[in-house]
Amino acid sequence: ALIPLADRFGRVATDLRVSLTDRCNLRCTYCMPEEGLAWLPREQQLTDDEVIRLIRIAVERLGIREVRFTGGEPLLRRGLVGIIEAAARLTPRPTLMLTTNGIGLERLAGPLREAGLDRVNVSLDTLDPERFQALTRRDRMADVLRGLTAAATAGLTPVKINTVLMRDINDDEAPALLRFALENGYQLRFIEQMPLDAQHQWDRHTMVTAEEILAGLAPFGLLPDPVSRGTAPAETWLVPGHVDAAGNPARVGVIGSVTRPFCGDCDRTRLTADGQVRNCLFATDESDLRKLLRDDANDDEVAEAWRVAMSGKRAGHGIDDPAFLQPARPMSAIGG
Ligand code: GTP
Ligand code: 5AD
Ligand code: SF4
Repeated sequence: ALIPLADRFGRVATDLRVSLTDRCNLRCTYCMPEEGLAWLPREQQLTDDEVIRLIRIAVERLGIREVRFTGGEPLLRRGLVGIIEAAARLTPRPTLMLTTNGIGLERLAGPLREAGLDRVNVSLDTLDPERFQALTRRDRMADVLRGLTAAATAGLTPVKINTVLMRDINDDEAPALLRFALENGYQLRFIEQMPLDAQHQWDRHTMVTAEEILAGLAPFGLLPDPVSRGTAPAETWLVPGHVDAAGNPARVGVIGSVTRPFCGDCDRTRLTADGQVRNCLFATDESDLRKLLRDDANDDEVAEAWRVAMSGKRAGHGIDDPAFLQPARPMSAIGG
């Protein structure tokens, strides 16, 4: 029987975010130290079959309708195409999405589309190759640009670009990034940096806020979007005079997680690469589904443990509380 993932505040999770690996081939300064992190040991990572089983339970018994694959960098997961193929065969078929840094997308966009992937979001914080290298500690900007092109060609559309703006690092590039996105038919979203970095260097006083981002976009004459944002993190605006690749009015988004939180409308549940359910990006505790799977629990028992995990979801992320504590795991291990 289908019993949804509801919490005490009346929210129902219908969107599952699955982290497929905590590893990454970039070292974005706002995410990871140069030397990387202590990666999950192989035996703690869910196998492809375990991931597929949990997605099936989520779709069949918990009412999940959208599945987004994240990392670390999900394109590093060997079984990715097979996992997507299996997810696309479920009934009702969930919408399948991926959030990637774009490296390897050039090669994988076609096979992923054929496997059933619906669309991709690609992270790109700068269009300057030297800055890209300074920011990610790898000289791979050209790979990302080729990945974006391949995604659009393969029909993984609308292709969205995620840009984290950082003061005195790339905040001068917002207009150039938006022009690039408009020219190529990608939908750009600017993201407020959140306190989820492994190094604990986030500082609310230097964070570039949604308000500042919008002020910087004034020359574009943005108009309010008549389409309501629903449960999406991004607030969107129309960019007059531009259309996207499908001929719809061009949009730009701002994800103001810190100054304009959207927790009240949250429809997400998360699964880490080691099989822990997180009821929130900022949850301080997790529920161990991997142990249940490996102790031979049946689907009903797994589904019920997932519901219990979600029932304890807090009202909001609490970043503004004086007692706020950053989650023990960084973003790359939680999955964005
Ligand atoms: P769309 O379906 O394309 O709107 O995807 P999305 O924006 O939900 O996903 P994506 O993985 O591209 O994430 C973009 C940014 O939103 C990242 O910085 C995520 O960490 C952030 N984000 C996603 N879900 C949540 C959430 O539940 N809470 C908060 N605070 N941020 C989130
Ligand atoms: N705050 C906000 N966004 C972040 N991302 C990575 N770390 C953070 C953070 N601390 C972004 C990535 C990617 C998306 C999944 O999340 O740049 O675009
Ligand atoms: Fe990798 Fe994403 Fe972290 Fe950058 S933000 S290091 S691309 S996981």
